[in-house]
Amino acid sequence: MANQVLVGLQWGDEGKGKIIDVLAEEADVVVRFQGGNNAGHTVEVGDEKFVLHLIPSGILHEGSLCVIGNGVVVNPLALYDEITELEKRGFDVCPRLQLSTRSQLVFSYHCLIDGLFERKLGDNKIGTTKRGIGPAYADKVNRVGIRGSDLKHPQRLEQRFRAQAEFYNRIFRDAGEESVDTDSEWDKVKAVAEKLAPLVEDTVLTLHRAAARGDTILFEGAQGTWLDVDFGTYPYVTSSNTTVGGACVGGGIPPNRIDHVLGVAKAYTTRVGRGPFPTELDDADGKLLRDTGSEYGATTGRPRRCGWFDAVATRYAAMLNGVNEIAVTKLDVLDAFDTIKICTAYNIDGQRVTDMPSDTDDIERAVPVYEECPGWGAKTTGVRSYNQLPQATQNYLARLKELLQSDIGIVSVGPERTQTFRA
Ligand code: GDP
Ligand code: IMO
Ligand code: MG
Repeated sequence: MANQVLVGLQWGDEGKGKIIDVLAEEADVVVRFQGGNNAGHTVEVGDEKFVLHLIPSGILHEGSLCVIGNGVVVNPLALYDEITELEKRGFDVCPRLQLSTRSQLVFSYHCLIDGLFERKLGDNKIGTTKRGIGPAYADKVNRVGIRGSDLKHPQRLEQRFRAQAEFYNRIFRDAGEESVDTDSEWDKVKAVAEKLAPLVEDTVLTLHRAAARGDTILFEGAQGTWLDVDFGTYPYVTSSNTTVGGACVGGGIPPNRIDHVLGVAKAYTTRVGRGPFPTELDDADGKLLRDTGSEYGATTGRPRRCGWFDAVATRYAAMLNGVNEIAVTKLDVLDAFDTIKICTAYNIDGQRVTDMPSDTDDIERAVPVYEECPGWGAKTTGVRSYNQLPQATQNYLARLKELLQSDIGIVSVGPERTQTFRA
């Protein structure tokens, strides 16, 4: 497979990290193109568990070069910690990692203002990860952001950092909030800037040279389609384009360099943070999904909201991203159920709706229409090929394929690398 983009088709945490890790075996370059350390991508290899936030999940395969592209917002302190943690665990990260000159940097003032905005919103808060993601993208668009290339120029970095920190400190003081200790923050930033500067490159050139050589490039989406700032359940979204176009803008590659789009969807649905979620279950089934699927945020530890598979939202997401195929993850979590439901339509004000509405208030009022499938009453975690799956499981996947109007190419039946097979 040449160049492939992987995107989440739901509200994030679809198991993208796990699938990237499996695909990275064949990839020469793995690229993050949007988001920041709001992402938490979990990879399990044997008894070891890794949670990647900024570094592409391909880092666990020695053969792949990892690129943090221009579309990513990067907290340099968090990146440095992540590198150090992986190096402690035996990975030689720095020679295999590049950070775009054009990436935007996230500082503590972004995180503080993220929290302040949330408090001001009160009951209407978004439920952000408080990693400063929205404010860092706002600075980018306001043309006052500080970029990866600034890490190579300490004097310029200091002057820009202090100017921005002072700007935000005025806001914090006016709001009666704690402000940033600019001197001590700068000391921390300066120390990691020295360490990160050698990783900073024009990654557009890296990717285009790799493509010209015929290398395989894998683009690792973060978050999910319904958290996309344009297409998601606005305003309950993140601040970047999580959908396939984000890979072009946030990686610096043209659409005609993308050969394949893989969408990742859980066999049910979860959401962290606030916002509409039509199939959310606030009952024993929801609890069983959360407990069986260990549905707690990889970044914030928050319990994830859980519900049945939403074919309305996921079909729209598959269409929007132009997916060639879908990876269905966490199928094993449904082993525990006697009956499984799939949402095939919404009832909104008495009307049957089969296309995801673009108005968030309409999604808020959507009542899911379900069809029921029999459970399979067997454990699938040991299954290693499609044909070994119980017939009822195959029927469930066949129904999803029909509803999503997309091929299902990959199935995952556990968190470990080996618990994955082609459909
Ligand atoms: P991401 O953000 O899309 O990479 O997903 P997360 O890592 O935040 O959440 C997915 C969680 O499900 C992680 O704890 C994974 O280890 C786990 N996981 C992934 N695939 C499977 C699977 O097929 N079955 C089970 N039981 N867990 C899985
Ligand atoms: P991965 O890559 C799930 C959610 C937050 C909140 C909203 C905005 O692991 O799938 P932000 O901090 O981005 O401004 O928060 O987006 N969110 C995620 N939910 N998975 C993620 O990433 C997420 N990243 C952000 O919970 O609702
Ligand atoms: Mg996650």
